[in-house]
Amino acid sequence: MKNIFICYILSIITLLSSCSIKQNPVVEENKNNLDNYLILVNKDHPLEKNYVPSNLVCVHTVDFIKRENETMMLNSTAFISYLSMYEDALKHDLELTIFSAYRSFEKQETLWNNNPNENYVARAGHSEHQTGLAIDISRKDIGLTLNFMETEEYKYLVNNAHLYGFINRYPLDKKMITGYFPVNEGIQFTQKFSKEKHYDLCRNWCCNKDLYK
Ligand code: DAL
Repeated sequence: MKNIFICYILSIITLLSSCSIKQNPVVEENKNNLDNYLILVNKDHPLEKNYVPSNLVCVHTVDFIKRENETMMLNSTAFISYLSMYEDALKHDLELTIFSAYRSFEKQETLWNNNPNENYVARAGHSEHQTGLAIDISRKDIGLTLNFMETEEYKYLVNNAHLYGFINRYPLDKKMITGYFPVNEGIQFTQKFSKEKHYDLCRNWCCNKDLYK
């Protein structure tokens, strides 16, 4: 009972510890609508330049790449779901590291300008990272290579991520549908559902080409 109470307090602290980031008053997210997780962002469906998610929190207590002048942030629900998945992976001696999470329009613009490769990088406004729901994951010792797909960590994610509401956003065999190879900065998993959602919906989402176009 005491542990549950501590976890509850920790999750409240997590939610309250959201880093202050200037919100765009124009974006009115319907906080009660789970479907705001079913956001389709791809080469044909961009976000507004001034879209900033209203519920970003700082990533902490999990392994992530710390870069100078960068605060790693995520949608609060996605972070809590990821925290649960990270802790369960640790119980299997699997080490998940976040290489990238929320990216602003401007951050994505810089990424694109540095590497204008349509097969791997989204143009500014066309990246799911701007929603705060996308996470590029790899293993620290593997780094930003597709070798991650050979690891037990990757197999664990493919078989379990949906239990925490995440989908493997750019499967290698779905490039013809998604328009992207798995990111070479880690493999991107995107929160699409709350934990309660059923696996079939998740699997359909991955494979249903209509949802991608
Ligand atoms: N690597 C994915 C497509 C992005 O840049 O958002």
